[in-house]
Amino acid sequence: MRRKFAVFSLTYTTRKSDNWHNMSGVFQRKDLLGLEPLSCDEILFLLNEAVAFREILKRPIRKVPTLRGKTVLNLFFEPSTRTQASFDLAAKRLSCDIVSISPGTSSVKKGETLLDTLKNIEAMKIDAVVVRHSSPGTPHFLARHTEASVINAGDGAHEHPTQGLLDMLTVKEILGTFKGITVLIVGDILHSRVARSDIFGFKKCGARVILSGPPTMLTEAFKELGVEIAYEPDQVIGEADVIIALRVQMERLEESFFPSFREYREIYSLTPERLKKAKKEAILMHPGPVNWGVELDLESVDVLKTVILDQVTNGVAIRMAVLYHLIGGQVSTFDSSSQEEGR
Ligand code: CP
Repeated sequence: MRRKFAVFSLTYTTRKSDNWHNMSGVFQRKDLLGLEPLSCDEILFLLNEAVAFREILKRPIRKVPTLRGKTVLNLFFEPSTRTQASFDLAAKRLSCDIVSISPGTSSVKKGETLLDTLKNIEAMKIDAVVVRHSSPGTPHFLARHTEASVINAGDGAHEHPTQGLLDMLTVKEILGTFKGITVLIVGDILHSRVARSDIFGFKKCGARVILSGPPTMLTEAFKELGVEIAYEPDQVIGEADVIIALRVQMERLEESFFPSFREYREIYSLTPERLKKAKKEAILMHPGPVNWGVELDLESVDVLKTVILDQVTNGVAIRMAVLYHLIGGQVSTFDSSSQEEGR
């Protein structure tokens, strides 16, 4: 049960050879399915582009015509606040039409398969599908069956690449580099797609990554990803430049992974007392939603520089950059200064 989530090997679709979008940027892919297949150069390219897109969010009129005429489908089979809303906003900021389908109100409820759903939506002419699903590999499956770009918005415990990118952007803006920094990820690693995308992204770009969590939620198999393991965060918290708290994913716990929340809190919660053992300049992150009193206390955010809402803001910029480079068909770096509404 525990090992099945540990390491994934999935097939990725790249279109470098057939000039699918004829782009000359570093990121030339049909889909964004994970950070595992991306190079550090591709990641840095997207982060750099997101900085340009974020400027648009500061303007009085937060909209440019860049993706006018393009259409994106949001297909979320699991709940979401941040990811779904920020893809929605990212598309709208770029003048892209976006349609959302949720399983509860779609014909999936009547038994229509995921593939039939996709084929029918595709027949209405779309450019990209943003998909979140509880089954690892669902976006990869869809990507093999559509000409539209597919963006993984979270597939089970596998990957959540845009979360990994927005986490990296948030760190890069504060620390300036990934080389030589230590990233400590604490909590329910086993069920976390955020942990996997963060591991792939930070490791590729030169960071040291340490994982910490209950042994039932953190197997030795993670070492295959090039990370270190310290089962108790107190052993290593003083070495971290970045501390990422992960949510205990109650909805994925089919069995008891720790005796009680009291025991979990005793060792793993990033309480103010525990965070005082960290470097004063370390930054505290959480992908959200936070279980206050479990991963973090309300007062924890006062101990270190806490950037949870900066992560959310960066999420919109990252998703604008990803949409632009998957379906924009544009060449080279986006120039935010030359893009005005109505041009
Ligand atoms: N971080 C994140 O994926 O949040 P949501 O589940 O609200 O999208």
